[in-house]
Amino acid sequence: MRSHYCGGINESHIDQDVTLCGWVHRRRDHGGVIFLDLRDRDGMSQVVVDPDTPESFGLAEKVRSEFVIQISGRVRRRPAGTENANMPTGQVEVLCKELTILNAAATPPFPLDEHVDVGEDVRLRYRYVDLRRPEMLNRLRFRSRVTSYIRNYLDSHEFMDVETPILTRATPEGARDYLVPSRTHEGSFFALPQSPQLFKQLLMVSGVDRYYQIAKCFRDEDLRADRQPEFTQVDIEASFVNEESLMSITEGMVRELFRDVLKVDLPAFPRMPYSEAMQRFGSDKPDLRIPLELVDVADLVESVDFKVFAGPAKDPKGRVAALRLPKGGELTRKQIDEYTKYVGIYGAKGLAYIKVNDLGQGVAGLQSPIIKFLGEDVAMALIERVGAEDGDIVFFGADKTTVVNEALGALRVKLGHDLDLLTAEWAPLWVVDFPMFEEDGNGELTAIHHPFTAPSCTAEELAADPAKALSRAYDMVLNGTELGGGSIRIHNEDMQQAVFRILGIDEAEARAKFGFLLDALKFGCPPHGGLAFGLDRLVMLMTGASSIRDVIAFPKTQSATCLMTQAPGEVDERQLKELHIRLRKPAVAKGAEGEAGKED
Ligand code: AMO
Ligand code: AMP
Repeated sequence: MRSHYCGGINESHIDQDVTLCGWVHRRRDHGGVIFLDLRDRDGMSQVVVDPDTPESFGLAEKVRSEFVIQISGRVRRRPAGTENANMPTGQVEVLCKELTILNAAATPPFPLDEHVDVGEDVRLRYRYVDLRRPEMLNRLRFRSRVTSYIRNYLDSHEFMDVETPILTRATPEGARDYLVPSRTHEGSFFALPQSPQLFKQLLMVSGVDRYYQIAKCFRDEDLRADRQPEFTQVDIEASFVNEESLMSITEGMVRELFRDVLKVDLPAFPRMPYSEAMQRFGSDKPDLRIPLELVDVADLVESVDFKVFAGPAKDPKGRVAALRLPKGGELTRKQIDEYTKYVGIYGAKGLAYIKVNDLGQGVAGLQSPIIKFLGEDVAMALIERVGAEDGDIVFFGADKTTVVNEALGALRVKLGHDLDLLTAEWAPLWVVDFPMFEEDGNGELTAIHHPFTAPSCTAEELAADPAKALSRAYDMVLNGTELGGGSIRIHNEDMQQAVFRILGIDEAEARAKFGFLLDALKFGCPPHGGLAFGLDRLVMLMTGASSIRDVIAFPKTQSATCLMTQAPGEVDERQLKELHIRLRKPAVAKGAEGEAGKED
């Protein structure tokens, strides 16, 4: 139906006849001449319709925004002074000879101009219109280039694309499962995969050797800007490999992807043990663009009278840390109050601080509500420990280690952004040497990665002190976002059983839930390992989008609904009956919740 895309017309086409199809972006009536900006996925062309073609002119008078039309005409240079240097097609226009209205359009729910601010609820409800906006279409196109590049890279490194089931059993990745009732097996449910983890391990047992899949994963968990209930992983697994080979091949993939698609040369990927990341940045996904660090000061405040500090300083599960903000002395009382409120979100009960006005005056040159509690010597020792200088402010956190890490870790990132402290555009790293387990709220151990991750020690050492054991897991972090994570896996049944036991999964439960895996480990399982990248997060970072919703064609809201299709929806009684399901309460008809765009 067309000879060119609207965005593809330029000076080389002058005097040629072209046929274009697309949407009417704008119609301008210039008394006697009608200008149509015709848009398709490639861009926009200016079409001129004049009264010399009365039939087309009559139709052009009728078209409105977003009408779908076809035009044929001749490309000509725009008259001097009317060129538009901002448009790739801005030197030329098409003089229309024939215009056909292919379809009318109702008034769009919002204007498609890039600069018009529209609520995300409306955008999600009319997503098909929202996606017409060049900004959105470009993101989809970019995403497609990324997946295509990744496929080529992995194909050329001998990885085999294998699909794994969506209707399956639970794969523990730390979230709740989405369940699908079975019609043919009353009372039984499939679980949608939280990841293809177990299947990719089984493919290694099968001898696939190098597997990848661009795989949909489903997790029922609390949503944030970088989490969706269904999302996409670039899932990778290989046999007869160690950490080094996996990290080098996947780092190579990300490096070459950035070079090819973004023309960016990423800096070296430093490797940082988990313990160091937590200590220096309060986070296992530190944003290394921000030049601020946490410093431990518990030893200096153990014996002060100020219980807020002395308590956590003496508690083996407590932490007292300082965060020095160079030139932060200019922060106002109001700003400090706001930051205090901010760390409160992470459970911090306060945000003590010392402002350094003039070190030449000793303690008299410090300004702080807590010096009277700490004593002058301790105050000076704290300032010395963090190397603070005149004009700085030093913040303090004292609490359980997890609270201090989360609160000061988040404050560090917020200060970095608020005060424009970022030192680089891209800061990747590997975080390694994760512990195998962490304690949950009830004092029980849970796997930090997943229960199939190999420990760096023997089964005996692991059983003797599980809380201390490190794992062979690694995460790739970019600009404070966990892009991907993986590990060398357990390939030995005894070790797998030992890990299940530590997690409180006894033999019977292990057999019931993971019998197929335990069996497979017996039938010649090679040493293997892998990693999965969050594709949505990768594309979000590469496009500078602020939420993964912006790089997913049809995302869900913060409350895991689809405003366009109104999913999840009710089902009729007959269907429930077939599935052997009786609802406890009759379903109440509910409008779609408008929760998109709430604070992430
Ligand atoms: P993990 O659970 O760390 O590991 O997931 C891998 C990567 O997937 C992305 N991701 C998400 N993206 C969007 N929304 C979500 N809800 C979401 N959850 C995770 C993250 C994360 O780094 N099977 C293991 C991988 C392995 O061991 O090979 C796994 O799934 O970017
Ligand atoms: P208070 O004695 O509670 O008024 O606290 C004195 C100062 O210590 C205030 O600046 C509080 O913000 C701060 N503060 C209170 N609890 C903590 C805590 N757990 N960590 C860091 N600072 C705190």
